[in-house]
Amino acid sequence: MNHDFISQSISVVHPITLSHGKNAQVWDTAGKRYIDFVGGIGVLNLGHCHPGIVAAIQHQATRLTHYAFNAAGHEPYIELMRRLADFVPLSYPLSGMLTNSGAEAAENALKIVRGATGKSAIIAFDGGFHGRTLATLNLNGKVAPYKQRVGLLPGPVYHLPYPSVDTGVTSEQALQALERLFSVEIDVNEVAAVIFEPVQGEGGFLAMEPAFAQALRRLCDAHGILMIADEIQSGFGRTGQRFAFPRLGIEPDLLLMAKSIAGGMPLGAVVGRKALLDSLPKGGLGGTYSGNPMACAAALATLEAMTDANLATWGEQQETAIVSRYQRWQARNLSPYLGRLTGTGAMRGIELVDTKGAPAPAQLAQLLAAARDAGLLLMPSGKARHIIRLLAPLTIEPAVLEEGLDILERCLAQLT
Ligand SMILES: Cc1ncc(COP(=O)(O)O)c(C=O)c1O
Repeated sequence: MNHDFISQSISVVHPITLSHGKNAQVWDTAGKRYIDFVGGIGVLNLGHCHPGIVAAIQHQATRLTHYAFNAAGHEPYIELMRRLADFVPLSYPLSGMLTNSGAEAAENALKIVRGATGKSAIIAFDGGFHGRTLATLNLNGKVAPYKQRVGLLPGPVYHLPYPSVDTGVTSEQALQALERLFSVEIDVNEVAAVIFEPVQGEGGFLAMEPAFAQALRRLCDAHGILMIADEIQSGFGRTGQRFAFPRLGIEPDLLLMAKSIAGGMPLGAVVGRKALLDSLPKGGLGGTYSGNPMACAAALATLEAMTDANLATWGEQQETAIVSRYQRWQARNLSPYLGRLTGTGAMRGIELVDTKGAPAPAQLAQLLAAARDAGLLLMPSGKARHIIRLLAPLTIEPAVLEEGLDILERCLAQLT
């Protein structure tokens, strides 16, 4: 594979070239078939080439492929925002805007909270991931490789430990870190917003402690700090529900979406309290391609397919298959490297650790290669790249899911 004409700073996990895909399977240009537990990194919760999404894109392509919403409104954008307002389980009147990507949604959220509060400091979390643009880089709770050699990043941003049964950081410890932050680093009254993933994606499928989220909500309310939930990876059914924040017993002021919102078409969204979304001057938000009609049509077809009943059925099927399989592996001592099962609902990660419980990234790299050879694509995650994240489409056929888990089982058993 000659990649000389592509930047070598882009890392490609799997050195294969894909030709086509169908639901949870992809084929490379040599004709080899793979079961896909990567799903374009969480973009394909409805699988490759979902018939409803393909039909919607094809139909839209014959009507209007593009118009910049800053220049003139178009039906797919307006209809999508109307439908999204119903789909998002926030209790207050909301408004929103569309973007081209997740990072762009996060960038816009930063602009909105600055505009609304007149403040600029942000609190984010260790292990969090919000994108690769300059401002979002600073939000990420991981330096290498994202923040290396790019110089001064827009701030100020302060990071807290991420409280989760999966990290071992308790709610109390994270709250103590917050107290320390406000006594040592920054005045609580200068903080514009806190941004967090209800379940960290890149961080390793780690589920936030509900008690912490609720205490944080109270603190935000007391000090005029806005709460931004980044559900770019955890949303659109990944956990088996529309979004993951209701599990925490809180409502964010802004909610970020992207990835599985549009079955592979580039689209993101920021929705939240109407007054916040209106806080910047006219012309302060927008973009040439954001909310492109083809992407909006794909998102409308996505919402059509993601009924609560479908999400519950798919989520339960995937969660049961993964959790029961993992429990069997544990009972059988399948591998000395098998660590914890992380995450919640259908959003699950499998940790690989050495005999002392330390992260085992070398074994994970070995596993990725062996699984690929055997016809299964997997994706690493976690600050140490030692957690496999399972991102199979929610629509995966049960037999294909089992076949993928069989391959994973064999490869785990053979780890050295
Ligand atoms: C939680 C979260 N936020 C933001 C992003 C950035 O999204 P994008 O790659 O579409 O810019 C990602 C991407 O992995 C993500 O998982």
